Amino acid sequence: MTTTYVFTDFGSAEHEQFFEGPTPEPGPGQLLIDVRAAGVNPYDWKLRSGLFGRKAKLPRAMGVEAAGVVRAVGPDVEGFPVGTEVVGTVAKGFGGYADQTVLRAAATVEKPAALSFTDAAVMPVAGVTAYDGTHQIELERGQTLVILGAGGGVGTIATQIGGVHKFNVIGVAGESKQDYLRGLGATPVVYGPGLADRLRAASSGTIDLVLDLVGGDSLRAALEVVSADRIITTVDSGAVAEHGVLELQHDPEALKKIVDVASYGLIDPQVTVVPLAEAGRAVAEVEGGHSTGNIVLVP
Ligand SMILES: NC(=O)c1ccc[n+]([C@@H]2O[C@H](COP(=O)([O-])OP(=O)(O)OC[C@H]3O[C@@H](n4cnc5c(N)ncnc54)[C@H](OP(=O)(O)O)[C@@H]3O)[C@@H](O)[C@H]2O)c1
Repeated sequence: MTTTYVFTDFGSAEHEQFFEGPTPEPGPGQLLIDVRAAGVNPYDWKLRSGLFGRKAKLPRAMGVEAAGVVRAVGPDVEGFPVGTEVVGTVAKGFGGYADQTVLRAAATVEKPAALSFTDAAVMPVAGVTAYDGTHQIELERGQTLVILGAGGGVGTIATQIGGVHKFNVIGVAGESKQDYLRGLGATPVVYGPGLADRLRAASSGTIDLVLDLVGGDSLRAALEVVSADRIITTVDSGAVAEHGVLELQHDPEALKKIVDVASYGLIDPQVTVVPLAEAGRAVAEVEGGHSTGNIVLVP
């Protein structure tokens, strides 16, 4: 039997619950894993709330990424024998918030021994998004990268990637995260009224790229100091349509690359570990919109 955290209807968190079911069989292109850690992302509660539509089959398993050990291999899958330590994206209809789940082999890589399961588990979403957002437009050493939402899951990793490349990273976050951002190597800036002026002051007037992870007023402030074609957003499709801000582009090799970088010890995704039994608390923390670093569930 397998335990999975699911939502049974679209809407609020009251529809979340644990679900016991038979151990799944991996289909073509799939791997069954024993989950060691699973990332918790804003996507998970947004899907439950119906923000992406209400068409998914219910109950719907929560969590889109997991790290673990291969337990069974589907037809046509090569390169992941039973016992391999892996990290990847879950297959359609499955969820990472579980003791066992099914991954898409095409979106899975071997986990290097030097990388913990808990750090690896956040690489398919936060790691890949941070990688994509800092490589879509290549900056030179010393150029200025502004990250809006720098203290969250994606921002924490993007800030450190900026440090690896010796960019001048300005991190925008709430008051409580200013020291945290300093610790990651960024120049911290508080969001809220006057943000455009604070960005001008912190950057001495030149900003080469903005990675926007929050949208809304912070993004509008960034538009006052940098042209739309130097802003990449992961969240604000309205600003893409209205101002020509760039949408995030995905590099298919990003998971392999960011897992390698993390395994060299160059990135610490600042993971908070929560027992799977407290999945609801972890989702609520992320849904609150002000969490720090990344959160993973461990069965
Ligand atoms: N398109 C994609 O492929 C993709 C992939 C991954 C994520 N995303 C999206 O990208 C966003 C960020 O993801 P995440 O995992 O990093 O989320 P997260 O961990 O929840 O972090 C968001 C951060 O933003 C900060 N914040 C809140 N309001 C802010 C404001 N007005 N200005 C600046 N910072 C603010 C929050 O803390 P403080 O307020 O305390 O600073 C928090 O640390 C989410 O909306 C997610 O859905 C999209």
